[in-house]
Amino acid sequence: MSEITFALPKGRLSEKAIDILERCDIDCSSLKSETRQLVLKDKKEMYKFIFVKPSDVPTYIERGAADIGVAGKDTLLEQNRDIYELVDLKFGKCRMCVAGFDKNKKNLYGNLKVATKYERVAREYYELKGINVDIIRLNGSVELGPIVGLSDVIVDIVESGNTLKANGLTVLEDICSLTARLIANKVSLKTKSELILPLVKKISEVV
Ligand code: PRP
Repeated sequence: MSEITFALPKGRLSEKAIDILERCDIDCSSLKSETRQLVLKDKKEMYKFIFVKPSDVPTYIERGAADIGVAGKDTLLEQNRDIYELVDLKFGKCRMCVAGFDKNKKNLYGNLKVATKYERVAREYYELKGINVDIIRLNGSVELGPIVGLSDVIVDIVESGNTLKANGLTVLEDICSLTARLIANKVSLKTKSELILPLVKKISEVV
């Protein structure tokens, strides 16, 4: 019987998350097979792994559908969930930035239109600066905002910088740096502490 449900983000964080699990001697062969199955187990059936959209990981954890998981700090800042953030996994390094056309650098203060997937992050950033903004929530490809005149700037994550560069945009302001984090359900950490705490210790030793 599987005893810990582990939520893993599909996409760019998944490979490195699996890497860390393997370094903890967890059998990840099923996770590396090309399957469309969404629930997978290790050989010992100690773990049940679920692959979900990165922005859904905190939802599964907060509601106890998964005990432990991996999520980007960008998602955690944006969603502000009632969960425990346990370990900085030190991969998935990127920055949260304000970006736009270089010529906009001088005009970052008055009634800005800001396109972003990170509405809360953007709102808090500009509130702290006392700048009035019109936040336009998008679900992706936010770089289009300034290009088509939907917004003056964007608030988004920048990893390699290639997407900005390919679209003639540049970082105008740095908001914060980000990495992937190990997160846990608050109740699971108490009720399954004898299983989860040794795993957390092991993970923090290999990152
Ligand atoms: C993210 C982000 C940027 C891009 C940054 O988008 O929103 O668009 O990656 O990465 P880079 O600096 O390495 O180019 P994602 O790939 O998640 O797609 P999306 O725009 O559809 O959300």
